[in-house]
Amino acid sequence: MAEAQQLTWQQEAPGVWSATVGEREPAGLLGFAASAPQGEAIALLGETDFPLPQALITVETQADRVVVRLPLEPDEQLYGLGLQFQSLHQRGKVRRLRMDHYGAADTGATHAPCPVYVSSRGYAVLINSERMMTVYAGTTVRRDSPHPPPDRDRTTDPEWTPNPLSDAVEVAVPGRSVEVIIFGGPTPLLAVQRYNLLCGGGCLPPRWGLGFWHRVPMAFTQAETEAEAVQFRERGFPLDVIGLEPGWQTRCYPCTYEWDRGRFPDPDALCARLAAQGVRVNLWANPYVSPRSPLYEQLVDMSGSHTVWCGLVPDYTLAPAAEATTAYFDREHLARGVSGYKIDEVDGIDAWLWPDHATFPAGHSGEVMRQTYGLQVQRMLTGMFRARNRRTYGLVRGTNAGGVGYPYVIYNDCYSHRDFITALCNSGFLGVLWTPEARSAPTAEEWLRRLQTTCFGPLAMINAWADGTKPWSFPEVADAVREVMLLRRRLLPCLYSAFARYHFEGLPPFRALALEQGGAPSPAAGVRPAQGALDATANPYAVPPPREIKDEYMMGDSLLVAPLFAGEAERTVWLPPGGWCDFYTGAWYDGGQEIVVAPGLERIPVFVRDGGIVPLLVDGGLEVRHYGRAEGRFLLYDDDGETYDYERGEYSWTELRATRDSGGALVGASRVVKPGPPPSYGELRWRFMTP
Ligand code: GAL
Repeated sequence: MAEAQQLTWQQEAPGVWSATVGEREPAGLLGFAASAPQGEAIALLGETDFPLPQALITVETQADRVVVRLPLEPDEQLYGLGLQFQSLHQRGKVRRLRMDHYGAADTGATHAPCPVYVSSRGYAVLINSERMMTVYAGTTVRRDSPHPPPDRDRTTDPEWTPNPLSDAVEVAVPGRSVEVIIFGGPTPLLAVQRYNLLCGGGCLPPRWGLGFWHRVPMAFTQAETEAEAVQFRERGFPLDVIGLEPGWQTRCYPCTYEWDRGRFPDPDALCARLAAQGVRVNLWANPYVSPRSPLYEQLVDMSGSHTVWCGLVPDYTLAPAAEATTAYFDREHLARGVSGYKIDEVDGIDAWLWPDHATFPAGHSGEVMRQTYGLQVQRMLTGMFRARNRRTYGLVRGTNAGGVGYPYVIYNDCYSHRDFITALCNSGFLGVLWTPEARSAPTAEEWLRRLQTTCFGPLAMINAWADGTKPWSFPEVADAVREVMLLRRRLLPCLYSAFARYHFEGLPPFRALALEQGGAPSPAAGVRPAQGALDATANPYAVPPPREIKDEYMMGDSLLVAPLFAGEAERTVWLPPGGWCDFYTGAWYDGGQEIVVAPGLERIPVFVRDGGIVPLLVDGGLEVRHYGRAEGRFLLYDDDGETYDYERGEYSWTELRATRDSGGALVGASRVVKPGPPPSYGELRWRFMTP
């Protein structure tokens, strides 16, 4: 047995420590993401102690892998470990963190296999490696464990469990070196903030990116696309971005990136006419280059050994490959007015992607390219927009740790509404964004429920690439769909400010309740679920599912969103301790309990924390709503909404504060705490929602 060694920790920033085993990995995921740590912002979070007993963190270097072992307390719960779609609690699971399409099974295969976990005890761990690793998240019990679980007899002991409590996480990383980074808290949210800021801070989308998106069917023409935008306007449905699917190109799968002039005779006019109506154009593309693409000749010698759908897989770690691509994209797309991309297929399905043994000209293995390809493409495209001092916002189907600052939102081809919400909850642990996009629905009720959810996500979108569904496709719910789309628009100042805090403070704009103080009812991780009723056919080792809150989440600091699913007239909502108010009426609820809500078909249940302040765009002005009884404060962010000038200080913060006067009445006041460019929002009016 190889000797377990201790690690030597080095402080990277206050509350952030790293240790390297063997020779430092060539890049690690943070190297591939190439983000600049926000040291000053991390320092503002203050000092905190190293969160774990250092002597209990050990590594073992074996012939072909490094095994990192980190201790666990009995009551500790773990979150994160890749964007998971079915579970929040990761303790007791094995996660093989491989970039892959989520295939509707809770195996760990995911579009964002970020090797990051967040502990309920208030710290986070990143294994900064681009290799495909296996995380045994509290499943392994060693012979020499200091805290072994009791051994039990399955025949006679009802407490026997197939999954005894382990006192450590063990991570097996291929190769002989790895970097481990630990983020202190003391709360889980502070640990996540430090992680996000080390990765450069969260992305700040352009303001229009937070509006409403609609993707048109695959073979739509320019005329049909323009007519679709007109329909939105005439019917009163807001539209900010229209997405073109594969048919805008002459060929797709693999791609030419060349406008099909039959279907799109005049892309400049398309972009200009839509822009005049406030609508941006987003282009679908996958990164596999068709032999008929004008880029083929330039990229052929800078591509991998294998093809995807007969297209090249360019090695975008080579600067000339990225330069050739962005020169063409810039000329053919950006200069014509395109606002961004949907980067498809960078997650891959084994049967059509390159194999792990593929070779690439810069020397990275097929495995490493698979884990990082999404990061590489996001980096290239973000840099291209940045060179024009224009922000972009788009979609990506595969990303990884370190990509926190890239303005891309993950999506996939699965369509379970519940899984979509679980992923939204999980995204906040990992520094990624996920959209519960709406595509189609078997019933009007489901269509509305899905629209209600997407309007409370980081990218509100209908993806009608296959079905051609419109917001008004189900006439009986069309008014309610319009209403929630307009509500999304009204919430813009609130959402944009939440994203600004993601950027400047690392605060995830969408997050699970487990990241709130007292947000998750006691994790009780130390109690292993005993075996359920014996079942010799389905699963002889089945245990009852854990109680985890994976169907409600926070949007910003104050809004708690609890989606309803088709077929349900009511649902249970866990309200964390403190007071909560109904977003629509201001009605008060005591927190620290579960309540049952039945808001009817028209509304998605949303609650506001006691003292919560929610600025809304109403009638050209800013309606500042205060909820509950407590005094409250909100930081309203503003800038030009389009450029990177905010990085040069061109932004403002306005403090919105509700306090009680000497007579005990609530009064609202606003104060510019960081002056900047002229404000984008109209006149401000206070509205106190809770009597
Ligand atoms: C899929 C993608 C869909 C749609 C489709 C077009 O891979 O997930 O959203 O874009 O390609 O062919």
